[in-house]
Amino acid sequence: MRHGRLALLPLPVLVILGGLVLLGAVPLRAQSAAPPSSAWLALLPDGVVKRQFIIDCTNCHQFDTLVTIPGGRERSREEWAASVTKMLGYAGATTGFPIISAGRDPDSTAAWLVRHLAGRRPAPLTLPLGQAEITEYEMPVPTDLPHDVAVDSAGQVLITGMFSHVMYRLDPRTGEMSRVELPAPRGGPRAVEVDRQGQWWVLLGNAGLMARYAPASGRWSTWPMGMYPHSVALDADGGAWFNGHFTRDPEQIGVVDPATGRVETFPVPAHPTLARTPGGPIPYEIRAAPDGTLWGGELQGNRIFSFQRATRRFETHDLPTPMSGPRRFDIDGTGTLWIPAYSANLLVRFDPSSRRFTEFPLPVRDALPYVVRVDHRREVLWIGTAGADLVFRFDPRTLAFTAYRLPSAGALVRHLAVDPASGDVWLAYGASPGRITARVARLRAR
Ligand code: HEC
Repeated sequence: MRHGRLALLPLPVLVILGGLVLLGAVPLRAQSAAPPSSAWLALLPDGVVKRQFIIDCTNCHQFDTLVTIPGGRERSREEWAASVTKMLGYAGATTGFPIISAGRDPDSTAAWLVRHLAGRRPAPLTLPLGQAEITEYEMPVPTDLPHDVAVDSAGQVLITGMFSHVMYRLDPRTGEMSRVELPAPRGGPRAVEVDRQGQWWVLLGNAGLMARYAPASGRWSTWPMGMYPHSVALDADGGAWFNGHFTRDPEQIGVVDPATGRVETFPVPAHPTLARTPGGPIPYEIRAAPDGTLWGGELQGNRIFSFQRATRRFETHDLPTPMSGPRRFDIDGTGTLWIPAYSANLLVRFDPSSRRFTEFPLPVRDALPYVVRVDHRREVLWIGTAGADLVFRFDPRTLAFTAYRLPSAGALVRHLAVDPASGDVWLAYGASPGRITARVARLRAR
C-alpha cells in the first residue's frame, strides 16, 4: 500500500464522524481555521453575474482562502485582474481548453470582487450533520487528479488518475491500490463506467480515445472519437456513448458499437446563442435512461437534451434558472432526471413525461453541487459538492437532505459512485491545483 504523505500510518486514515454529531446544530467548522469556498462565495451577491463567475472560476480549483486572501492579505484590484488574465491564458474561450466563458473580463471581474470582498470575512456555518464513517485513501501520486470512480461487481473501486495517466484499482478490504497502464501515453483518463461483463470503459481525454479494458485478459481495445470527450454512458445494447466537451458547431455526441467496431456521431441541435462563437455550450454529462433514451447536458449552455437513436430525434430543454450550470446528473428507475445545478446551488428534478422541472435549494449556501448519483436499491440520491467539503443524501420521498462532512478541507468532489451491494459511497476529490494530496474516500452512512 502506498500512502504518500501518510506513509507511516499502517491503515488508511479513518475518520469517524459519529462523535461529532450532536443534537441540533453544531458548528460545521469547529476544528478548521480556514472557511471553505462556499463561505467565501456566500459573500458575493446572488444573481446571474455570480452564477457565471462560479462556472468560470471554480472549475479547476476552489474559491478558498488561498485564492481570496493569500497569507491573510486581501488581493488588490490590480492583482485580481492579473490573476484573471492568467486564468484566461490557461482556459479562456479561445484557448485549447476553453472552459471559461467568452465574456470573462479581467477588469470588471476584479472590480466586482473587490467591491464585495473588501474588508469582509466569511461567517462560520452551522448545520446538523448525519452520522457516517468516512475512510480516505491517498492516491499513489500525491499531485494526481482522481477524476471519476466506478465500482465493479466485486466491490473493487476503479479510479481515473487524470494527471498520472494511470487507472487504479482499489481493493477496499486491504486498502491496496494497483495500477493498470493505459493503452495510450499521457492519455488523460477522465471518465469510467463498468459494463455487465465487468469490462471497463475509460475515456482518454487527451488521446481522444474510447478505451475498453478486459480485466480477465488484461487487454485493451481502443476507438478514436475524433474529439476531446467528457463523459461516457453505457446503454442497454452495449453501446458506449460519449460527448465532445468543446464541440459547438456542430455540437456532438457519439456512440461506439462494440459489436461492429463502428463509431457513429450525431449533431446536437445548435445552441441558440453559444454555438457560433468561442466559449461554447460545453457539453457535460451524458446518461442512458432505462427506456433507452439518451440524455445530455450543457454546463455553459444551461440546457439538457434527449436523443432517440431509432428516430435520431433530439429534444432540448432550458433549465428554469439561467446560468445554473447543470453538471453531472443521474437518472432514477422511473426515468426522472436529478440534476445538480452547480452555480445555482440547486438539486433539479426533471420529469420527462410532463417535461416539468422542480428545483430544491441545497441547505448550505453555495455548496456547489457537482455530481448526483442514484442509489437504485435504496432509492436515495447522493450529491457531491465542490465548495463546502460536504456530501448530501437526498430522499425523494421526504425531500429531506442529510449533510455529511468530509474530513479534508478542500475536498472538491467531482464524481461519486455507489456500491449497490453495500450502499457505500465512493468519492473522488479532484482539484487543480489541489490543496491536499490527491485522495478518494468511502462514506458509510449509519
Ligand atoms: C483551467 C483551470 C483554471 C480555471 C478555470 C481557473 N483557474 Fe485559477 N488557477 C489555476 C491554476 C492551475 C492555478 C495555480 C497556478 C498559477 O497560479 O498559475 C490557479 C491559481 C489561481 C489564483 C492564485 C494565483 C495567482 O497568481 O493568481 C487565483 C487568484 C485564481 N487562480 C483565480 C481564478 C479566477 C478568478 C478564475 C476565473 C476567472 C480562475 N482562477 C479560473 C487554474 C484555473
